[in-house]
Amino acid sequence: MNHSHSRPPIPIPARLAVFGSGAGSNARAIIEWVRNASIDAPYDVVLIVSTSPSAGINDVARAYGLPLLVLERSMPVVEQTDVLLQALREHAITIVALAGYLRKVEPAIIHMVGNHILNIHPSLLPAYGGQGMYGATVHQAVLAAGETETGVTVHLVTDVYDDGAILAQQRVPVLDADTVSELAARVRNVEHLLYPSAIAAYVREMAEVG
Ligand code: GRF
Repeated sequence: MNHSHSRPPIPIPARLAVFGSGAGSNARAIIEWVRNASIDAPYDVVLIVSTSPSAGINDVARAYGLPLLVLERSMPVVEQTDVLLQALREHAITIVALAGYLRKVEPAIIHMVGNHILNIHPSLLPAYGGQGMYGATVHQAVLAAGETETGVTVHLVTDVYDDGAILAQQRVPVLDADTVSELAARVRNVEHLLYPSAIAAYVREMAEVG
């Protein structure tokens, strides 16, 4: 997949920031994967960004002793963007992984990291994607449509919601008696396996050679 036209090479090891607003289970899975990677992981997790003082992802950052930036809701968007740009600069971030980040990513942020922003979505995009389709809403729609399978998608982030080139996908079966929470749990388990390795594959593909 050719990204060279708009994405500069990434120095190895890449310096990853994870942005989230929820429980932080994907952030935890990524951190654990890097720590236990059998071969040298091509990236380090160096910053966690959260959008709420009470988000579970904050506890993940604390549990692993990682720097945490909590973006105050009350702060005007322009100010939040400045604070975020400052943190990305301070930590020399070269790639961002969104995991349940319920905010629009401002173009200034996307450009700051050379368009190296990835997201994980709990469906087989383009199906069940787009504005408003996140979390349980996605699984409810999949069940209501009587789908026999759904899945997980890792994709690049552009300024169009859930658009961007698809980097990895994995199918997940939908069982007859599935409740939303049972399906969500099965999908989340696949997310935790797919995302860390999809980030690594992307970094290796974009690695600065020499
Ligand atoms: C995941 O289900 C992911 O698909 C979606 O947001 C959720 C994040 O969950 N983008 P967590 O905060 O990583 O547990």
